[in-house]
Amino acid sequence: MAVEPMDVSPGACPLNLDVEALRRAVQEEYAEVASNPAKGFHFHTGRTVAAIIGYEPAAVDPLPDVVVESFAGVGNPFIWGSLRPGEVVVEVGSGAGLDALIAARQVRPEGRVIGVDMTPAMLEKARANAALVGAKNVEFRQGLAETLPVPDACADVIISNGVINLCPDKDAVYRELDRVLKPGGRLQIADIIVKRAVPQDAREDIELWTG
Ligand SMILES: C[S@@+](CC[C@H](N)C(=O)[O-])C[C@H]1O[C@@H](n2cnc3c(N)ncnc32)[C@H](O)[C@@H]1O
Repeated sequence: MAVEPMDVSPGACPLNLDVEALRRAVQEEYAEVASNPAKGFHFHTGRTVAAIIGYEPAAVDPLPDVVVESFAGVGNPFIWGSLRPGEVVVEVGSGAGLDALIAARQVRPEGRVIGVDMTPAMLEKARANAALVGAKNVEFRQGLAETLPVPDACADVIISNGVINLCPDKDAVYRELDRVLKPGGRLQIADIIVKRAVPQDAREDIELWTG
């Protein structure tokens, strides 16, 4: 098993973390959220969490259960305002597609949404959900937040919800956001932050990353 030492934040001690093993563990967790959303996780899912974090009922209630059930967001990236008609949106970590589909509706048919996720089961579900609701201005691509499969300066807005906390190399993610965002573009990110340094042994414990 290859262990990749990495320095994940300025001034931090090198982290002995097997990044591939961490990604596999995160993918296994979210594959379960995709296929078995009622199982019960250390986070809320579906309509329950959408209501807790303040999603507009008008945006969520009319959607079929299958579109909402695997939602696992941690906050509301639309709280800073609706996206504008015609905008190009990239979503980092699009999961089963609820946020991407809300964004697709806001940017109207003349806009476009590209969702990126690393978990095949989530991509499959997101594509099926887009087809189910007839959203033609959204596509889902397999890829990593750290190496987004989209061109430079293509996005008016980047949205993300509960994903960057799962990425060990946050500097790499933010470099990608800077590369992909058009000049003057906007970041609308909901995520988990910690206000105190996390102990080294906890940062190297994959089980704590996934729950
Ligand atoms: C909290 S969910 C995203 C919620 C999503 N916005 C929605 O509408 O349901 C987290 C997602 O991030 C993805 N993810 C985690 N780390 C990733 C990474 N490094 N690159 C790409 N996707 C990642 C997981 O596969 C999972 O689908």
